[in-house]
Amino acid sequence: MAKLRVGILFGGRSGEHEVSLLSAASVLNAIDKTKYEVVPIGITKDGRWLTAEHAERLLRGEKQASVLPTPEKHLRAGDPEATPGAAVLATGESVVVPPEPTRREAGIAPFQTDAATLRRASDRAINVDIIFPVLHGTFGEDGTIQGLLELADIAYVGAGVLGSSAGMDKDIMKSLFRAAGLPMVKHVTVLRNQFEYAPKKVQKLVESRLKYPVFVKPANLGSSVGISKAHDGKELGPAIVEAAKFDRKIVIEEGVGGKKNKAREIECAVLGNDDPKASVAGEIVPCKEFYDYDAKYLVEGSEAVIPAKLTKAEMKTVQRLAIAAFQAVDCTGLARVDFLMEPKSRRIFVNEINTMPGFTAISMYPKMWAASGVSYPELIDRLIRLGIERHEDKKRNQYSR
Ligand SMILES: Nc1ncnc2c1ncn2[C@@H]1O[C@H](COP(=O)(O)OP(=O)(O)O)[C@@H](O)[C@H]1O
Ligand SMILES: [Mg+2]
Repeated sequence: MAKLRVGILFGGRSGEHEVSLLSAASVLNAIDKTKYEVVPIGITKDGRWLTAEHAERLLRGEKQASVLPTPEKHLRAGDPEATPGAAVLATGESVVVPPEPTRREAGIAPFQTDAATLRRASDRAINVDIIFPVLHGTFGEDGTIQGLLELADIAYVGAGVLGSSAGMDKDIMKSLFRAAGLPMVKHVTVLRNQFEYAPKKVQKLVESRLKYPVFVKPANLGSSVGISKAHDGKELGPAIVEAAKFDRKIVIEEGVGGKKNKAREIECAVLGNDDPKASVAGEIVPCKEFYDYDAKYLVEGSEAVIPAKLTKAEMKTVQRLAIAAFQAVDCTGLARVDFLMEPKSRRIFVNEINTMPGFTAISMYPKMWAASGVSYPELIDRLIRLGIERHEDKKRNQYSR
């Protein structure tokens, strides 16, 4: 049997570019090479798609291809000099996924992007059977890349357009969670314009609905970027100004744990399509006042406890809620659902869903599955199969009568 060709897509324009490089390096290392032929595809911070040689450089932590002096040739077999697309490749121009269903022998095409010509060398396109977008955050986890892959009719790992975008937008996510009856903290959503036009009115609105401390978040981001904890009225305005740098929608929510306690942070991994399963839950113990960007990536000392110290009943509740959250945003493939627990009352709130969670071998998502009996290579395998299954299932749909 021919090996399945898997395009591993990584990097990208998001603030989580570096996290994605780490996740992808882990996947490339662990993926079963007897079963899969891997095509690494890197996306630079400015959004250029590069073929394997450049991609591998990115993974090894070398310079961005955009600043490399002479980008090398393309990975593909055959002499690039002999084919019309050779010029594109010899000068290291980007590859692209054309937004149209291609002949099955294609998928990713070299692309010339100088102002005068927008031409793709489809004769030298790289075939992939499935793409694994190991991309976190903006343009990776928000439905945009998924939209491109849908147009191109290429199977891909993870949530579709709707699940990705609904899971990314904390305001829409909360509406869907609320409709599904999931327990959540109280929140208010305000628009940047609304705040800039009438800051006092917004402050009044927030204070009439919520008690301090509150967490102020841009609706669409991740890695805690733009998030602050406002302990009182004086801190609210600056916190909104900070969040407003990142999004036009700002979500403000009541802090779990109140003034005196820290919330416990419980996470649960979900895997599957129409019949998703939950892993054992884990717990993160941040080394800072909350799990901010520094605690996530820069400062050592945050701890992961797997399984989380919960009663049997609490563990079951978390798993049930994780699956319900997954279904509420119409997710497929994988997601990590994060919870906040009030330490005194032990009340559990759903905080958020991440449709492409950190995916290094030592990230929470794979570790929670490992603790549930699914090894990292097996997990990659299952995700690929789920992506193919979803693509096959979608093929059954008619688009007209
Ligand atoms: N309502 C809340 N109560 C207590 N802590 C919170 C609350 N909301 C967020 N936090 C803290 O901020 C962190 C980041 O918030 P989160 O909503 O998970 O954003 P991101 O998508 O950036 O991870 C959480 O892990 C937690 O430490
Ligand atoms: Mg989070």
